[in-house]
Amino acid sequence: MSTAAIRPLSSSDVLVVGSGAAGLMTAVALADAGRAVTVITKGALGEGSTAWAQGGLAAVLGPDDRAGLHVQDTLVAGAGLCGVEAVRTLVAEAPAAVATLRELGAVLDLGRDGCPALTREGGHSRDRIVHADGDASGAEVTRTLTGALRARGVAVLEHTAAVDALRTADGRVVGLRVARIGPGGALAKPEELRSRAVVLATGGFGQVFSATSSPAGATGDGVALALRAGAEVADVEMVQFHPTVLWAGPGAEGQQMLVSEAVRGEGAVLVDAGGRRIMPGRHPLADLAPRDVVSAAIAAFLAEAPPGERDHVWLDARHLGADHLARRFPGILRACRSAGYDPAREPVPVAPAAHYTCGGVLADLDGGTGVPGLYAVGEVACTGVHGANRLASNSITEGLVAARRCAATLAAALPSGGVPVAGPNPVAIDPGARRAMTLAASRFAGIVRDSAGLTRLAAALAAVPRLPAGCAQDLATLEATALHTVATVLCAAALAREESRGCHRRTDAPATRPEWRVRLVHRLDPAGGLHTRTVPVGNVRPVPEHVVA
Ligand code: SIN
Repeated sequence: MSTAAIRPLSSSDVLVVGSGAAGLMTAVALADAGRAVTVITKGALGEGSTAWAQGGLAAVLGPDDRAGLHVQDTLVAGAGLCGVEAVRTLVAEAPAAVATLRELGAVLDLGRDGCPALTREGGHSRDRIVHADGDASGAEVTRTLTGALRARGVAVLEHTAAVDALRTADGRVVGLRVARIGPGGALAKPEELRSRAVVLATGGFGQVFSATSSPAGATGDGVALALRAGAEVADVEMVQFHPTVLWAGPGAEGQQMLVSEAVRGEGAVLVDAGGRRIMPGRHPLADLAPRDVVSAAIAAFLAEAPPGERDHVWLDARHLGADHLARRFPGILRACRSAGYDPAREPVPVAPAAHYTCGGVLADLDGGTGVPGLYAVGEVACTGVHGANRLASNSITEGLVAARRCAATLAAALPSGGVPVAGPNPVAIDPGARRAMTLAASRFAGIVRDSAGLTRLAAALAAVPRLPAGCAQDLATLEATALHTVATVLCAAALAREESRGCHRRTDAPATRPEWRVRLVHRLDPAGGLHTRTVPVGNVRPVPEHVVA
């Protein structure tokens, strides 16, 4: 890995931060539109969360499916907080996004009729998930889009951190301060990259929690950067816990191996240590209920389980048979076997873990954040599509749809650019505090929460040690600071929302309350103070950006 100075890219129209599906698709579409684009990514190209996605992409493609059903399923999963207009747009444009992916060379699994094979996941009323190589859908999306990016000669800065936005005196974003990441996470001296627009596609913040299916880079950097740049964030309390990651032993921390919901979609069931099914009687869709319901049911079940049996349940897929498992879920089968379990012969231990962050930078589906020059697409953004709980396999779909729309917006007109002024020196968090923060977030702001626990978390976050002003930063510091910012907003939102809805479950406020059918929208003032407003669903819209041709 080189730590050489970053070559000046003053000619970039657009800087795209992140190289998951949303970032890559934005860059490919911008390149096709003739825009000069540079992709900046913390790791190697394509190392984002997308590469880990197993399930696939939801789109209305089956003969028995209809857009109205996909809309309805998304709204039901979203538990009253979805923006209906955004959902309709997502559903309407999803088939074209899948078609674009295929045109770019994605090899999807096909049925006997030669059309994409469709499967089902939790909350879907029809088979509508397209997939690739069985359970390696995200890897195929990544392979396709990184190939397309390279074929177009798009400039890429790998192992480079976006430290902060460059802003004009009147608050427009006109580029980034970036730093090359060296060995051990040391950061080279930050340099300025000017651009007309910055598109954040940095993914989510699963790493706020001690156990997550998200990769190590999912530290909320984009959300924190956007807050510092004056953008608003919303629905941050709505963190989706996936019901089934492979249980890796008591107190397992960091990224955990996902066991796709598609395994339940094809018939596997959750059982207790005695082989008794857990989900029937808890929801009409049983094991295929929306994810928030299944994770909460597992949490409730474990809370009442005998001591010693409280950290995992079991997924029984034996009746699918070794051949079917090998054909449909080759990666999962391999991972389970290398962990010492054979799903064809025995139930495998599973537990919920933080998986997807429904909230993020408040943006429309074109990526506009209301801060001129700053856009957000994919998991980092909160477009209202997911509401209080994302419907399975709507995430890569949303990333692609938003990317195409954002690129079309920037192809039509670029913001004016401008001359940046020096920004404030943001507070930096001691990275030594990171583990205590993530353990506290899991304990007090996990699948179930209450006011007492959240109050303890808020106090713990307020007491986290800061580094002395001006001290040299490394990647660990940047990430700990982003995690701290996001955890602080999440905790404040979870404390404020005195009800249970979707991914947000308060044991001290278990009912869903109609007066809470609002979204919590937050911003930071220049001194770091947090300001929150509640906005009725449907009215949440970033202020339209001023663009010039
Ligand atoms: C899964 O394969 O279960 C995850 C898919 C998703 O998060 O939508």
